Amino acid sequence: MRFSTLLPSATAATLLISAEARVVVPEEVQAANRLANRAFPANAPHGYTPQTGNCPSNRPTVRAASSLSPNETAWLEVRRNATLDPMRDLLSRLNITGLDTTAYINDHQNNASALPNIGIAVSGGGYRAMLNGAGVVEAFDSRTPNSTSAGQLGGLLQSTTYLSGLSGGSWLVGSLYSNNFTSIDSILAQDTDADNSGSLWQLGQDIFTGPATGGIQLLDSAGYYAALQSAVSDKDDAGFDVSLTDYWGRALSYQLVNATDGGPAYTWSSIAQQDWFTSGSTPLPLIVADSRVPGEILIASNTTIFTFNPWEFGSPDPTIYGYIPMEYVGTNFSAGTTRSDQCVTGFDNVGFVMGTSATLFNQALTVVGGANTTGLFPSALQAGITAVLSGLSSDDNDIADYPNPFYGYNNNTNPYAVSRQLTLVDGGEDLQNVPLHPLIQPLRHVDVVFAVDTSADTNASLPTNASATGWPDGASLIATYERSLNLTMENGTSFPAIPDINTFFNLGLNNRPTFFGCDPANQTGPSPLIVYMPNAPYVYNSNTSTYDLNYNNTERNAMILNGYNMATQGNGTLDSQWGTCVGCAILSRSLDRTGTPVPDVCTSCFDRYCWDGTTNSTQPENYIPAMKLEELSVTASGAGKLGLSLSAVLVSLMVSAVLI
Ligand SMILES: *[C@@H]1O[C@H](CO)[C@@H](O)[C@H](O)[C@H]1NC(C)=O
Ligand SMILES: *[C@@H]1O[C@H](CO)[C@@H](O)[C@H](O)[C@H]1NC(C)=O
Ligand SMILES: *[C@@H]1O[C@H](CO)[C@@H](O)[C@H](O)[C@H]1NC(C)=O
Ligand SMILES: *[C@@H]1O[C@H](CO)[C@@H](O)[C@H](O)[C@H]1NC(C)=O
Ligand SMILES: *[C@@H]1O[C@H](CO)[C@@H](O)[C@H](O)[C@H]1NC(C)=O
Ligand SMILES: *[C@@H]1O[C@H](CO)[C@@H](O)[C@H](O)[C@H]1NC(C)=O
Ligand SMILES: *[C@@H]1O[C@H](CO)[C@@H](O)[C@H](O)[C@H]1NC(C)=O
Ligand SMILES: *[C@@H]1O[C@H](CO)[C@@H](O)[C@H](O)[C@H]1NC(C)=O
Ligand SMILES: *[C@@H]1O[C@H](CO)[C@@H](O)[C@H](O)[C@H]1NC(C)=O
Ligand SMILES: *[C@@H]1O[C@H](CO)[C@@H](O)[C@H](O)[C@H]1NC(C)=O
Ligand SMILES: *[C@@H]1O[C@H](CO)[C@@H](O)[C@H](O)[C@H]1NC(C)=O
Ligand SMILES: *[C@@H]1O[C@H](CO)[C@@H](O)[C@H](O)[C@H]1NC(C)=O
Repeated sequence: MRFSTLLPSATAATLLISAEARVVVPEEVQAANRLANRAFPANAPHGYTPQTGNCPSNRPTVRAASSLSPNETAWLEVRRNATLDPMRDLLSRLNITGLDTTAYINDHQNNASALPNIGIAVSGGGYRAMLNGAGVVEAFDSRTPNSTSAGQLGGLLQSTTYLSGLSGGSWLVGSLYSNNFTSIDSILAQDTDADNSGSLWQLGQDIFTGPATGGIQLLDSAGYYAALQSAVSDKDDAGFDVSLTDYWGRALSYQLVNATDGGPAYTWSSIAQQDWFTSGSTPLPLIVADSRVPGEILIASNTTIFTFNPWEFGSPDPTIYGYIPMEYVGTNFSAGTTRSDQCVTGFDNVGFVMGTSATLFNQALTVVGGANTTGLFPSALQAGITAVLSGLSSDDNDIADYPNPFYGYNNNTNPYAVSRQLTLVDGGEDLQNVPLHPLIQPLRHVDVVFAVDTSADTNASLPTNASATGWPDGASLIATYERSLNLTMENGTSFPAIPDINTFFNLGLNNRPTFFGCDPANQTGPSPLIVYMPNAPYVYNSNTSTYDLNYNNTERNAMILNGYNMATQGNGTLDSQWGTCVGCAILSRSLDRTGTPVPDVCTSCFDRYCWDGTTNSTQPENYIPAMKLEELSVTASGAGKLGLSLSAVLVSLMVSAVLI
């Protein structure tokens, strides 16, 4: 749908307030030079507006998914080598009695592919998922103070090859990579920066209020709304279809991208050019979204799943089975090549990518367009969003609109082969809320995945009628497992056996870390060992609502600390051998590959943490998880008039839209 067809031009002019197209921002260009080593405003000076120009002499094409990209293959060599030192340090700290891990790594260092290949997957679930995932990343990051003491897990992030995120998890991943791979600690430290320049993760300034003025943010609320409108309508004026996701992605960027106006010119593909990325000092970021024809209900077994990486966008599924260069997303392709010699750049805005993966939440914006929020929101925004919504069918509210690069490609299998438009939605809509899909691709040979699940699966009536709401129950892993059994869609992927939901409750598998797929001999094909890390109350009741879009900094930090304690099992207080067991999980597939005997201490870990294949499918008791460690005392934000009203409206909206 074209924005301009929805909006009478008089209204459009009013909405733009300044009635000026967003002007070139010279500061951004200067900043690009000054900050050459962070994800950068590659689309400056054009801000959010994609640019159409001549294609490179070597026109972009769709690459078949039969191999990894040459870029990934070359980068992996560098990255795998760069993980060796951190992995040596980490494993030597984890006290794996009976295995000289340093000698083990030294013996195999000339063949890094013999050594562990690690992935981390961060689920969706709004800010709850972003913050819980952040706690895990913080625990795994050697830059976190004290994280490299005995038994601690700092350095696991530095040893990791792949970091995937979906929806709320994509906000975490996207925010780190848009910001020079900054650390969680640095993000939290900016609250107390002397110059008060911090703009990242100020979740008490919700997307409806806009950022606090000061530091790098220049806009008051009215200016914020005008800037949202202006950015999106400029994209529309340049001839691109826009949807609610454009507003949503722009709004999110003010919280997730550390730059003036949330970095409208920052592109996802620019990550591939950063020194810290090309030198292999960080994992490969992967962001997952699903495709969906408007109005269709998704199920795991037949959804085509897309991944954004810094070089490419596409899907390894048998339907599409192709990738295009990330930089040229937004270009019109036909039958695998560009339709003309004109190519689009700058479409791959970082906020738009994060917004796409989290497109379920753009429903939140529809609240603003609702009839009865008058007085809660500035009239400019209200009028603008209402106008946009009135032209979108409710089916279209929750899709992100892309020119379809796979038009006329793989006509026999590709459900989008005849569509000029590719509509993408929240990566969790097929119930696979943990972004495992890119990590179980056989070409990637991942050995172990730390699967951080912050899904809100339980509700008051499930499993019985007085359960706590908002905790995971394993449904996401089950969806991934079931898809791996569908011969039409699995296309070479396999996944460890996962039991039914009742078993998750009855055996407590959704309440503590559980390893799946421990026995390499009992797999349907090569698949990673899954270290399942379900959200549970360690020091804070982190089962906040998915639609809670407002956290003060105290609550935010409590959520993160809870994730940290999940990752470290309370710094080992819940199990003094937890660190050792994590080391065993990391090494498991590698030991098998190199024919190295499993040390006794690992056997005992696997006895303790591996799902042993038993099931108990009887109706479980109410799920009311107890606090595992001493509870933090946190004064709730008093989400204010706006926050509370908003939650109420959101809840009714979600119920009426039957989205949960
Ligand atoms: C990016 O990170 C590196 C390493 O931590 C640091 O040296 C550099 O100053 C950072 N750059 C910016 C622009 O923050
Ligand atoms: C990817 O690799 C190709 C050559 O294999 C190269 O031409 C291209 O510039 C690379 N892309 C990026 C973004 O580095
Ligand atoms: C290392 O683990 C062994 C048991 O395997 C234990 O006896 C020893 O105390 C541990 N050492 C440290 C420093 O934790
Ligand atoms: C990785 O390390 C191996 C063994 O030391 C070496 O042969 C290879 O050249 C390295 N690769 C890169 C890209 O540095
Ligand atoms: C790190 O450890 C030291 C010594 O145990 C302690 O004083 C300090 O508070 C710790 N810092 C953090 C951030 O936990
Ligand atoms: C935000 O960007 C500024 C430079 O503009 C940098 O000094 C600061 O360290 C960044 N903050 C984080 C948390 O990366
Ligand atoms: C997906 O599966 C459902 C149920 O089996 C079916 O109704 C729907 O049409 C399928 N969609 C596609 C695109 O195959
Ligand atoms: C497997 O996937 C195909 C293609 O989407 C679908 O038509 C079929 O119903 C699925 N089979 C099962 C058992 O879910
Ligand atoms: C995956 O799908 C593609 C496209 O349909 C097909 O060519 C390829 O052989 C499949 N791979 C496997 C391992 O089934
Ligand atoms: C809007 O809310 C007010 C009270 O806040 C109520 O009186 C009114 O009926 C509502 N209007 C609609 C259209 O729901
Ligand atoms: C696929 O469809 C497109 C558009 O209809 C057409 O141009 C192309 O030739 C088709 N490809 C094949 C191999 O049939
Ligand atoms: C072993 O594989 C079988 C068949 O896939 C499965 O039913 C069983 O649960 C698996 N056992 C474990 C421990 O994963």
